[in-house]
Amino acid sequence: MNLDKVFENNKQWIEEKLSNDPNYFENLGKGQNPELLFIGCSDSRVTSEELMGLGPGEVFVHRNIANMVISIDLNVMSVVNYAVEYLKVNHVIVCGHYECGGVKAAMQSADMGILNPWLRNIRDVYRIHKNELNSITDEGEKYDRLVELNVKEQCVNLIKTATVQKAFRDRGLKVHGWVFDVHTGKLIDLKIDFVKYLKDIMEIYHLD
Ligand code: CO
Repeated sequence: MNLDKVFENNKQWIEEKLSNDPNYFENLGKGQNPELLFIGCSDSRVTSEELMGLGPGEVFVHRNIANMVISIDLNVMSVVNYAVEYLKVNHVIVCGHYECGGVKAAMQSADMGILNPWLRNIRDVYRIHKNELNSITDEGEKYDRLVELNVKEQCVNLIKTATVQKAFRDRGLKVHGWVFDVHTGKLIDLKIDFVKYLKDIMEIYHLD
């Protein structure tokens, strides 16, 4: 790829934005007030804003391998804290995707070096849901299901944080689990019953 093309694209993009609204960048420079925090996979196909039809200023984004919410990852925890407590987003979304390389790697028995501790968190999801996953004979279906269950468990990990518990109590913050289907482009809402999970989780993880 010739990177000159990227700067050409940028020029065109600026022109396009200014033709719709001459004050576009002036307003963008004033600050941000996003309503959503999107936690997605680093995969190049899962383009957060673009797949939701949203633009600059509308979504606070964090992406890592396999959209993980790990309690000792200072990066994701700082993003959640900042987005929820300071930007006061109303929705936190964990968005996984089918054909996720991170999830696939966690299903295989291989030494992945530095990725081992990261992928272990996905193996933990497998262990928690071992009975359901082992009952699925089709490998493709099992892989898709692990993608979904991983999203669900990362939502649970969010619910375990004091930040999310407080924001739910004080202003009704919501957590959502979605999957992006790379085969069709569809965004699927897993309809995770956030309030039910919150009640279950609070029994043990009550922090606020
Ligand atoms: Co992925």
